[in-house]
Amino acid sequence: MQTTKIAVDEQPARAFELAAQWLQAGEVVAFPTETVYGLGALAMDAQAVHRIFLAKGRPADNPLIVHVATLAQAQALSRCWNACAQKLAQAFWPGPLSLIVAAAPEIPSVVTAGLDSVALRMPSHPVALRLIRENGPIAAPSANVSGRPSPVTAQHVWEDLQGKIPLILDGGTCAVGVESTVVDTRGEVPCILRPGGVTREQIVAVCGACTVAQGVFEPVHGKAASPGMLHRHYAPRGQATLIWPGPHLADRLCRGYDEAVRMGQTPVILCSAAVQAQVGARRTILCDAAGDMAHGLFAALRQADAMGAQRILIQGVPMEDTGMAYMNRALRAAGFDVQREDMD
Ligand code: TXA
Ligand code: MG
Repeated sequence: MQTTKIAVDEQPARAFELAAQWLQAGEVVAFPTETVYGLGALAMDAQAVHRIFLAKGRPADNPLIVHVATLAQAQALSRCWNACAQKLAQAFWPGPLSLIVAAAPEIPSVVTAGLDSVALRMPSHPVALRLIRENGPIAAPSANVSGRPSPVTAQHVWEDLQGKIPLILDGGTCAVGVESTVVDTRGEVPCILRPGGVTREQIVAVCGACTVAQGVFEPVHGKAASPGMLHRHYAPRGQATLIWPGPHLADRLCRGYDEAVRMGQTPVILCSAAVQAQVGARRTILCDAAGDMAHGLFAALRQADAMGAQRILIQGVPMEDTGMAYMNRALRAAGFDVQREDMD
């Protein structure tokens, strides 16, 4: 299959016309959101949604997020839209938050992977919103080959899915850089199944409390609250280790790097600008933008692959604010290979 990549800024009318043609024909289309690029199909078209799983090589037991453009669409797709969902949607939509609610019976089971719940999100990216307004709710996972780091540019999507999908809408680099926070709204207290662009602190400020599901910071085997928390995920090709934060963080990153050099490997350190200043002439890739490490992690992992790094030392950060999303992805990128200060 030939893949067309089209810059939405340059040819908006053509881009949305092509996207509508492919979507209505039951095909999949990659499009930008404020978090990461999505690979979308019409949510109510079971066969089209099935093509998403084929293109990504995604396990069928991992449900998709349905993207909506209005609150009315979200309510129509849920069997029960409670006060918690309403409050969170009001506070954070459009934006990087996916709400797990009881699913309306007409949603195809391929979308929910057979669960009785569905994840709903109203993205804030204007391209995503227009695509949904013109075509209806769109089911979309991140537009990467299953297991790879999520794509934050159209070029990343191209690297993974070129030849497998008909169209990529290029809307530039994603502003948030990490996926949405997935929150289960069905219990007494909202529960984070996957940390993301909206922080736990922000949810607590709105709802008064917020729990974090087991499995967010540890390997998940068998059944998980969020099936996407699989062990191998966001993985670069090089061997990655997460260096847990501590007073000697920069020294420990340097030691891991130097050890790799001694073994004849090509290493790289993924870190913040502040840590970069402490590691001398060693090769680094910056993750942070304005102090936010989650923003640049996926792009950095792909860059490490592009430079042929065989050993990747990832700087850890405290578990606060977007640090929680960063550590959740970094842990998985490293296959839970962690080096802590007290292990030295
Ligand atoms: O920011 C994002 O969330 C991006 C953009 C494209 O919107 N999408 C994304 O989708 O990251 P995906 O498929 O890569 O991740 C969706 C996560 C998975 O971990 C999946 O298991 C979980 O949401 N999920 C979806 N529906 C669920 C449900 N009904 N119950 C529990 N977890 C669910
Ligand atoms: Mg994904």
